[in-house]
Amino acid sequence: MSFSLGKLFRVTVFGESHGVGVGVVVDGCPAGLNLSESDIQVELDRRRPKNPEISTPRTEPDRVRILSGVFNGFTTGAPITMVVFNEDVKSDYYELIRYRPRPGHADYVAYVKYGGFNDFRGGGIFSGRVTVAMVAAGAIALKLLSRFGIKIVAHTVNINGIEARNYDLSDINSLEEVVERSPIGCADPKASEEMLGLVKKVGEVGDSVGGIAEVVISNLPPGIGEPFFDTLDGDLAKAFFSIPGVKGVEFGVGFKAASMLGSQYNDSFSLANGRVVTKTNNSGGIQGGLSNGMPVVCRVVFRPPSSIRIPQRTVDLIKYEEVELSLSGRYDPCILPRALPVLRSAAALVLVDHLIISHVMPRVLR
Ligand SMILES: Cc1cc2nc3c(=O)[nH]c(=O)nc-3n(C[C@H](O)[C@H](O)[C@H](O)COP(=O)(O)O)c2cc1C
Repeated sequence: MSFSLGKLFRVTVFGESHGVGVGVVVDGCPAGLNLSESDIQVELDRRRPKNPEISTPRTEPDRVRILSGVFNGFTTGAPITMVVFNEDVKSDYYELIRYRPRPGHADYVAYVKYGGFNDFRGGGIFSGRVTVAMVAAGAIALKLLSRFGIKIVAHTVNINGIEARNYDLSDINSLEEVVERSPIGCADPKASEEMLGLVKKVGEVGDSVGGIAEVVISNLPPGIGEPFFDTLDGDLAKAFFSIPGVKGVEFGVGFKAASMLGSQYNDSFSLANGRVVTKTNNSGGIQGGLSNGMPVVCRVVFRPPSSIRIPQRTVDLIKYEEVELSLSGRYDPCILPRALPVLRSAAALVLVDHLIISHVMPRVLR
């Protein structure tokens, strides 16, 4: 069992969807970073549902408390513990699915793995709620990265086949601004509107949709990553796959590489302003598991959420008979808009760990 991620910058998450709260212990954060609860709150607020028409009606204030590791406004180098209490919990409904697992959710596998002792309410540890902890830790990582000029943007590029086409990756600051303006986190305003309409429509009929997010990391120095097993792409993919609902990750042109020739795929080197750069970025800024100094670009696929109001077939695990399941309860019809800050955080956690391993980030900041 592992609720921890990272080697030298190590985060351990805890909590359940309908328990007392969720939180995280961040061990290995460099000392000397000025940090307050409001730094964390900004990121947590980004993750909160914004538009009730396209997200769960559960309204959690998500107020963070820092319990340790910060003194006189600066990190001390000791573990930072943060907690967010759950306040808008309605659990009665989940008795219905206790022994009738939702198809596609983790209810059945959790029941088998933990012998029925698991906290099944709201999906327990498998709930998207646990990503609050990732985002709280991610806020620290993002603040550390900003000291090195490294920036991460996550944006929606596809929802149920509607594709974002008109956006520009060359200026990450303007990309971030456009993404922030879209209720669905899409940088192409026309596609954003279509996506929004679709998610609303699908939610109204009690169904759900999946999609693809793109994560862009700019200004990462070359040479970050640890062959053989701790490659940068491997560690990023692992962090992304820990986010509930993620079903695939690709870097650069990703799976399209299978139908390209070497002469088309290879990113030619050239010089720009005294720096070695590549003319294309088909490898997504990572070669041999190491950053090459170009933007890291990867795409992450989210499945449509399992909790839908349309009746589905399941098995009653006590009576051992097939039954119909009709869900009520509070759900997101699409994970993407809420997952974008989680993706940024996941990437930031991995990058800080690797920058410390590479001795680029010192243990004391001055
Ligand atoms: C921010 C966020 C919110 C989510 N909201 C829901 C939801 O409302 N309903 C649901 O069925 N799944 C939701 N999920 C996804 C489930 O937690 C996930 O599908 C489930 O744990 C099974 O894991 P898997 O899809 O990775 O196999 C959410 C995930 C995230 C990251």
